[in-house]
Amino acid sequence: MTVVAVIGGTGAALFPRAAESERLSLPGNWGTASAEVLAWEQYGHRVLFLARHGEAGSIPPHRVNYRANMRLLADLGAEQVIALNAVGGIGVPSGALVVPDQLLDYTWGRPHTFFDNPDGPTEFVDFTEPYDSNLRKSLIKACAAAGSAAIATGTYGATQGPRLESAAEIRRLRQDGCTVVGMTGMPEAGLARELGLPYACLALVVNAAAGSATDIEPAGIHAAIEQHLQATVTAAGRVISCYLEQL
Ligand code: HPA
Repeated sequence: MTVVAVIGGTGAALFPRAAESERLSLPGNWGTASAEVLAWEQYGHRVLFLARHGEAGSIPPHRVNYRANMRLLADLGAEQVIALNAVGGIGVPSGALVVPDQLLDYTWGRPHTFFDNPDGPTEFVDFTEPYDSNLRKSLIKACAAAGSAAIATGTYGATQGPRLESAAEIRRLRQDGCTVVGMTGMPEAGLARELGLPYACLALVVNAAAGSATDIEPAGIHAAIEQHLQATVTAAGRVISCYLEQL
């Protein structure tokens, strides 16, 4: 039995949960997590589901207490973390699922490390490969099994939000090599690494990033998000189910 944490992002309320689930919380040193963790058994494994933006989906990306969330999942026994992140596509079509292998962090001012004591100790964790390669491989396999073949590489650009980007910002991200853009990929991935938790991202492309939207999605970014969120979250639910079945 493996304890698999799943962090749901925008649209987390649409993610399929077991009818019978426990609600778990624990006091911690890093403040209050976004929500209680829902726990259930599936295919002989234990799922810990956490809604990153809170039960009501109301916590903005820069106010998520990423440290409390990751500490809580670790304290509840998570052995690996699969993060679901709604993203804009930069040359990647809306509706696609992407399993990024790299990231770039453009966020600022977010509490982003557990090594925050002026007197140390500090561990300079290796982040060369920010996502766990075994977990990524299994997720990519699960996407295929679920009938939603993933784009198997990509670079996640983490922006500060909550506003969307300007066209020039997206041009810069594209030049930097980003293929998807979202507001919640960091510091979460870095904190998981600090805790030694294998972590991978399943990015749900819900719109064309700013500036590439006009010809592809004439109704605009918000209409695109509304159009693609339900389908991609439903696909993510199938992927996680296949992932657990194959684990
Ligand atoms: N930019 C940043 N974050 C996002 C986007 C976007 O276009 N779509 C969904 N999350």
